[in-house]
Amino acid sequence: MTEFNYESLFAPRAPISRRGENRNAKYDFAVAYPDPDTLPLAGLADAVRVALEREGRDLAYYPVTAGYPPLRELVADKLRRDRAMDVSVDDIILTSGSGEAINMLIQSFTEPGDVLLTEEYVYLGTMRQMRLWGAEVVSVKCDDQGIIPDALAATLQAQAAAGKRVKFLYTIPTFQNPLGWTMTLERRQQVLEICQSSGVPVLEDDCYVDLRFEGDDVTSISSLDDTGQVLYVGSMSKIIAPGMRMGYLVAPESVRERASSFKSGGVNQFAALAIEEYLRNQMYEHIDDENQALRVKRDAMLAALGEHFGNRATWSRPEGGLYVWLTMPEGTDLAGFQEQSFQEGVGYYNGAMFSPEGNGANMARLCFGHPTAETVSAGIAELASIFERNGIFAR
Ligand SMILES: Cc1ncc(COP(=O)(O)O)c(C=O)c1O
Repeated sequence: MTEFNYESLFAPRAPISRRGENRNAKYDFAVAYPDPDTLPLAGLADAVRVALEREGRDLAYYPVTAGYPPLRELVADKLRRDRAMDVSVDDIILTSGSGEAINMLIQSFTEPGDVLLTEEYVYLGTMRQMRLWGAEVVSVKCDDQGIIPDALAATLQAQAAAGKRVKFLYTIPTFQNPLGWTMTLERRQQVLEICQSSGVPVLEDDCYVDLRFEGDDVTSISSLDDTGQVLYVGSMSKIIAPGMRMGYLVAPESVRERASSFKSGGVNQFAALAIEEYLRNQMYEHIDDENQALRVKRDAMLAALGEHFGNRATWSRPEGGLYVWLTMPEGTDLAGFQEQSFQEGVGYYNGAMFSPEGNGANMARLCFGHPTAETVSAGIAELASIFERNGIFAR
């Protein structure tokens, strides 16, 4: 029997996704996972039992589209307390990870040819979705304090002069993925002012904000705005686990109404019950434990880079999050060498993958979240010796 052929039926927009099984190198700094040893499994097991005894029979119903109200209440409390945001339970939609929230917004705003602005290097999942929906993704130059205001103003002007519509600026202002920096308060204010005067909304992706193990919090861009021009997404992936698939969107009603139409129903109620019960009792204690572990790993990575890379590269020194950004001398081809390095035992993602314009082949993102501190040290030593024996340092 010949198999049915779907080829002529696919929507032209539907790309082929070859994201199947995860491949892991022996030392893997490419993946952006948390450490399985720091997942709160016992606490979640207790929480799920308590929550099911109390409300398990409600799993017989489909959840409301905005998601389990007590968890939205908990998120609203947290955002008021930690991010100085003036939000209530009704401003929040729970989503299947913050990725879904970002996708819902991209779909709500983008027509093919529209411009969406991002930082100079940007989270791959967002860039992929922007392109899927036909956006032209344009980056704005950054330094280690965040988006450079003059560059933002110039980019907006250039897009207007070219007759392009900029639908929003997407920013990850805290522990940026992949660059690792946190945008300063002054920059946040300047970026917001420029966007306000140009009528361009800001989509603030704050998914790493709780992973601070050093330095002081910087308030959310959302808290600096009282016009509803900042859309905000957050995630439980970094404070509980990506496998829970829970995130949230905070937006004005007009945006929530549109964005909700791209959602196929409320989030997983089983996960929502467990997360709410767990976080209500143990959120900050767990975040502290997690951050202590992350700090040790960050320190291990910085020390190993100092020892094995010395003055042959530069790298960022993040105060939180999961990433160190490595910069090798101009002309070094970490993009071309990535697969070879993986085959020889060390995984990284090269900078060009994160750049809308394909820049940064001499740069790489190194994630220290998943391996133990000992493995981080050994892996960086191994990366240096792979570079050494393949002549990467010499270029
Ligand atoms: C900056 C950023 N935003 C959003 C996400 C999506 O995360 P999730 O859908 O698990 O909340 C990620 C994932 O790594 C990320 O790095």
